[in-house]
Amino acid sequence: MTELRDAVPPAPTVDAAHTAHTAHTADTTDTADARDTADTAAAVFAPRRPARRRGPAREAPLPPGPPVQAGADWSAWSTYDAAELGFRNYWYPTVFAHQVGRKPVPLTVAGERVVLVRDDRDGSIRALHDRCPHRGVPLSLGRRQFPGTISCPYHGWTYDLQDGGLKAVITDGPDSPICGRVKVATYPVAERLGLVFLYIGDVEDGAAPPPVERDIPAELNDNSLVLGGRTEIRDGNWRFAAENGFDEGHAKYLHNTALWRLFKVMPTWNMTRVVEKDGWLIRVQDEVHWDAEFPGVGTFTNRRWWKRMPLPDRPGGNGDANPVIAGLDLPGFVSIRLPGLLRVAYPQFIHYEWYVPVDADHVRYVQLMVRFERSWRARLFQAKYLAAIRWLFHGQFTAQDAWMVDVMDAPPERLYRPDLSLTAWRRHVEQADVVVQPTEKRKGH
Ligand code: FES
Repeated sequence: MTELRDAVPPAPTVDAAHTAHTAHTADTTDTADARDTADTAAAVFAPRRPARRRGPAREAPLPPGPPVQAGADWSAWSTYDAAELGFRNYWYPTVFAHQVGRKPVPLTVAGERVVLVRDDRDGSIRALHDRCPHRGVPLSLGRRQFPGTISCPYHGWTYDLQDGGLKAVITDGPDSPICGRVKVATYPVAERLGLVFLYIGDVEDGAAPPPVERDIPAELNDNSLVLGGRTEIRDGNWRFAAENGFDEGHAKYLHNTALWRLFKVMPTWNMTRVVEKDGWLIRVQDEVHWDAEFPGVGTFTNRRWWKRMPLPDRPGGNGDANPVIAGLDLPGFVSIRLPGLLRVAYPQFIHYEWYVPVDADHVRYVQLMVRFERSWRARLFQAKYLAAIRWLFHGQFTAQDAWMVDVMDAPPERLYRPDLSLTAWRRHVEQADVVVQPTEKRKGH
């Protein structure tokens, strides 16, 4: 983004000229006023000075700096605009469960620093706020001194992994009076789909958070499946990533160079609408145009002799879909839901993307490719995933998205017709009962 800004010629010439003109006008007026008052006789023979016009106030000179293009901001979507760090009271996927062992794993979710560690007492994964209350050292740098605890590396304050309570202070002796009087915040954890889900939200003492299944698509809770996936941190705010996922316009142009689409034609343009079903917004294609003549410019098409036409855009509508996918009865193949989860359904498999806020400028991008299969079909898919899909689709294809999310600089923005997908998503957030994650530090965190 910086490079683009730097590439634009700076505007001091315009600004300086404007400022200089304003100053010059003011000087002339002051001088004339003084002369009129001091020398009335001379004024009789002097040309009349034009009457001072009373009009709107002169615009203040523009501040120096690079030019900003006109466009709308996000004030029409105030909740969404404020949700730089996402929403509270949701379960978010993080890393794969097999990546968490005895060694602490630090991560940031919705601006909250968390350490994951596997409890050696029962093998479950625990999550604590990654900050020692004593002097603020990350607990993820600590040692596993005693079973079921983690010890801060600085002075050895030792916390219970389950409830975050201070159990011992190694450098203050067995009778340290501060023991039992300090706690580190803990987070509810659940292992699903091979991933570690964290609950970022408010849970009353002694109460339980909502079930993690609430924040996982129902078809993933209720069916046998096999999956492959990746989880990584990418540059850019989570909202740009979510909007990119549900963006109607870009795939047909940006991705028509992707190897994943090497043998399939991409449309040139569509007429689209968005419908809501079971908490999901779904893009529905009313018209698909494979080629078009642009007046005065030329023809554009992605048709090539080696590419075949894709199936119609309704995943279960061709009679050959997997029964689970057909049962979803989706009117379009791309859908999105809160807190930031995309579903791209094909007749035989579904691709999911979670956009998990990290901080203002980073997003955890969790991709899963799922087939509802068992036995040898499931093993065949795993082989295909590792051999090709992981690199072609979850690699090169979505890396094109990551590139755009990273370099995007909006608002201001000038939206066009296909951006109804973006405005539908923002409106959906505005109308939802969500709690925006605060951007300032909270007590106890
Ligand atoms: Fe953690 Fe002192 S900072 S024990």
